[in-house]
Amino acid sequence: MKLFIDTANINDIRTASRWGCIKGATTNPSLIAKEGRKLTDVIKEIVELIDGPISAEVQEASTEKMVEEAKELAKLHKNIVVKVPMTMDGIATVSQLSKLGIKTNVTLVFSVPQALMACEAGATYISPFMGRVDDAGDSGAELIEKIMAMIANYGYETEVIAASIRNLAHVEQAALAGADIATIPFAVLEKMVIHPLTTAGLQIFRDAAKK
Ligand code: E4P
Repeated sequence: MKLFIDTANINDIRTASRWGCIKGATTNPSLIAKEGRKLTDVIKEIVELIDGPISAEVQEASTEKMVEEAKELAKLHKNIVVKVPMTMDGIATVSQLSKLGIKTNVTLVFSVPQALMACEAGATYISPFMGRVDDAGDSGAELIEKIMAMIANYGYETEVIAASIRNLAHVEQAALAGADIATIPFAVLEKMVIHPLTTAGLQIFRDAAKK
């Protein structure tokens, strides 16, 4: 499973880029707003730090305007993936962008029928939101499993980005379900490295080495 970083914070992206295992980044309007910066300014910096797909979300709502906005975003860099919401206008947008060769990431996916529709429209990526599904009392892990099964049934080329990841259990569930990618907040990426037995074991080895 490829690991993307889910943030618009440049310092965190810079740190994570040095690890060499982060293959892409995703942003959304909330993450951009948190940084208090313009979307295009943030995106231009991210593409310099990570050599892989970088998702930038459209802010318009109609198909016509989303397509225009997407064309502008795509001009910023070859690695830009245009993030489009799972709406009727969004699906029509994905369909048009797919014909233009512009990569898309359909966001706010919460069900198999939505995922199917996005795959049929030619989405490059879809982002089912694990954490928000759990918040609503359902299982984000089951959603990823079902979407992976549906995609395998029909051989769609659309890749699944497990999104809205809040903890290590989500990472594990996404990987076991066979998600192609997980987009993960910086704090959870850091936790992926840490295990108390690793810390304790290292201390024992270091003490032994001193003797
Ligand atoms: C990524 O593409 C999503 O926008 C993000 O993972 C949403 O996460 P949240 O549900 O924690 O806001």
